[in-house]
Amino acid sequence: MSLINLLKKKNLITLFTTPSHNQKFFILSKFRQFYKYDISETEAHNPQKALKSAEKKASKIYKTKRTHFLTNGSTSGIIAAVLTCVEKNDKVLIWKDSHICHKNAVKLAGAEAIFYETDYDEEFGISKPINTTYIENLINEHKPKAIIITSPTYEGIVSDIKKIKEICEKTNTYLIADEAHGALYPFNDKLPQSAVNIADFTIQSLHKTAGGLNPTALLHNNTDLDSSKALEMINTTSPSYPLLASIEKNINYLNSSKGRQKITELTENIKELKKNCPNVEFCNNDDITKIVVKSKNLTGYELSEKLYQIFKIEDEKTNEKSTMLLTGLGTDKQKLKKLEKALKNF
Ligand SMILES: Cc1ncc(COP(=O)(O)O)c(C=O)c1O
Repeated sequence: MSLINLLKKKNLITLFTTPSHNQKFFILSKFRQFYKYDISETEAHNPQKALKSAEKKASKIYKTKRTHFLTNGSTSGIIAAVLTCVEKNDKVLIWKDSHICHKNAVKLAGAEAIFYETDYDEEFGISKPINTTYIENLINEHKPKAIIITSPTYEGIVSDIKKIKEICEKTNTYLIADEAHGALYPFNDKLPQSAVNIADFTIQSLHKTAGGLNPTALLHNNTDLDSSKALEMINTTSPSYPLLASIEKNINYLNSSKGRQKITELTENIKELKKNCPNVEFCNNDDITKIVVKSKNLTGYELSEKLYQIFKIEDEKTNEKSTMLLTGLGTDKQKLKKLEKALKNF
């Protein structure tokens, strides 16, 4: 039975258990449905089996050894991946500009972080893909237990994950791919290739681009190591079943023809927007859904400010040279038309 069906099932047992809102005491009535499905693991209504089966189905969809549903973001997936394969005093290669959780994960494991850099794209003020020769040299020099890569970056720059995996295999280095911003990749070949079937561990945020609720995410594990113990250490013993059920639904949607079509529509709509705005310059990044744009006469910060002040449009990230507007499954044509109209002014 799917998680959502299990949560919908009428419960005939009187529960003197947590949560004590009894699925009926709606302090915040706007969240009425959420309370209704907010249950715990009780004898009467134990969703653990449904969760295991939903995760198994997900691993079949992604063709991974194990896929874990996360309700504490990619942050928890990256920490769990590091705790799974790294031990005290091991070395871990991490990107100098990575998300803070990479450094924290290494710290929690009692390991030593060795920082690597990426080249800089002067034109758009963003990072370039990882230089694989440089990484190979670093791996040979430091013999790290693991390397964490961020692919894609915020700005949609993807590294040569296959090549990096080949390098890692020579030295038995685990490859952890932070694909927090690439959760749509496994479901559409118009987007870059996902790390899911290449890296040892791949972590994806469903909430960033794939239509998921904050902070739903996935940890894909392709090793024979078990991540359950690591997840147990950092996760609550009272997970949110409405959120877990939403993950199951989210994956099924992404995998459906409707979901795949929606991603294609998004990419087509962005292509059209780019065509209709010839006066601004778009970065030719790997992932078209991250719109990185610059204007001839403005800095990235000025463009960002004008988009916000005049057109009431807020970007995701800005630097001196360019501005990045994040899109995802919820970005419809109308929203993109609003951006197009604004960009035509620059
Ligand atoms: C590259 C990258 N990795 C990891 C994370 C953490 O993801 P989450 O917010 O799902 O915990 C973020 C969040 O912004 C991110 O940008």
